[in-house]
Amino acid sequence: MRLLLMGAPGSGKGTQSLGLARALNVPAISTGDIFRENVRHGTALGQRAKRFMDAGEYVPDDLTNMLVRGRLESPDAHEGFILDGYPRTLTQVAVLDSILRETSAPLAAVVVLDVDEQELVSRLMRRARLENRTDDTEDVFRRRQLLYAAETAPLIEQYEKRGICVRVDGHGDPSQVNEHIVRELASLDAFAQGGAGTTTA
Ligand code: AP5
Repeated sequence: MRLLLMGAPGSGKGTQSLGLARALNVPAISTGDIFRENVRHGTALGQRAKRFMDAGEYVPDDLTNMLVRGRLESPDAHEGFILDGYPRTLTQVAVLDSILRETSAPLAAVVVLDVDEQELVSRLMRRARLENRTDDTEDVFRRRQLLYAAETAPLIEQYEKRGICVRVDGHGDPSQVNEHIVRELASLDAFAQGGAGTTTA
């Protein structure tokens, strides 16, 4: 089962991907988490990615694509994965398509989480108080939202045309959102047999 989770910063991609990954028994792969892990460990990748992340910019495609290709080649991703936060650019869509073609493993679905701006801001402000993400400041958060609207939101149309996209209301508590996702996925052919089951996100 190969799924993408898309949505604006703060829409709940990370939260929902963990619950879905547990239910489907596939890894949740978050490019943001992998970059942050590399920054924490001071790797060369982390050092290159940090200044883009801290500014709310996208890490260059060549670096991001290389990272994702490597991660998807890991044995634990052979039977499926939930990708959170990738692809975000047209080039990343093309690279993901080519990786999936090489392995004859199509995407089952793309889940788009819809959350209004006021709720996004309030979630991020809450997280900024509780955690220490260097990109959760007001200015950087605004830049992340603008970049998402300009570069990533337009990509959704491509997946809609392929008939594998479901839009899910991302408001409500995480378990309600999970129920919405499972209900929408069940309407797709790829999920008609088996399904993701309701999970605790
Ligand atoms: P990334 O970590 O992916 O950041 P993001 O897309 O901005 O998303 P967030 O992690 O802020 O939000 P989310 O949608 O995952 O929501 P979450 O579940 O965390 O990327 C960080 C950076 O890495 C990028 O800016 C870029 O620089 C780089 N990068 C990553 N991928 C890249 C790529 N493909 N190409 C280039 N660069 C890339 O929830 C947010 C908060 O809300 C949490 O506190 C959570 O507890 C809370 N919450 C979640 N669900 C609910 C709910 N239903 N109700 C109330 N609160 C909720």
